[in-house]
Amino acid sequence: MVTWAKENVTSSGLADKKVRYIVDDVVKFVNREIRRGNTYDAIIMDPPSYGRGAKGEIWQFENNIYDLVKICTKVLSDNPLFFLINSYTTGISCKVLENILKLQINKKGKFTSGEVGLPMSNSSLILPCGIFARWES
Ligand SMILES: C[S@@+](CC[C@H](N)C(=O)[O-])C[C@H]1O[C@@H](n2cnc3c(N)ncnc32)[C@H](O)[C@@H]1O
Repeated sequence: MVTWAKENVTSSGLADKKVRYIVDDVVKFVNREIRRGNTYDAIIMDPPSYGRGAKGEIWQFENNIYDLVKICTKVLSDNPLFFLINSYTTGISCKVLENILKLQINKKGKFTSGEVGLPMSNSSLILPCGIFARWES
């Protein structure tokens, strides 16, 4: 994934920018950042629908996304720019994601949500792929 991410950085024309690649459990990492007092101006997350940790811990989007967003809001800077969540989990409404952001981000700004889709090359149709929710300052 890191190799792939590096390729994406290069193809996005950002190869000369400072990028850190951290391979870690997201919850452990965020909790460490909270303890260190490190903050971020923006958060983009694309969590899996389902997964298992090294010790068999189960991640299920529906059950765990609220708590993940909650801890992530603790590392937002005083004047953050945005918080974006992307999901390919079926059966979740984009409004649920938007509501989670609304419940956790106590700041002024704009909340939006909707579907993520791929335009089809052989028609004008959009292939639905998932959902997103976003807060912007
Ligand atoms: C939906 S994919 C993200 C794909 C990525 N946005 C891309 O375009 O290539 C979810 C990713 O979360 C990673 N992941 C799963 N559990 C994790 C955890 N506990 N901590 C950090 N990353 C995790 C998976 O390895 C997977 O790469």
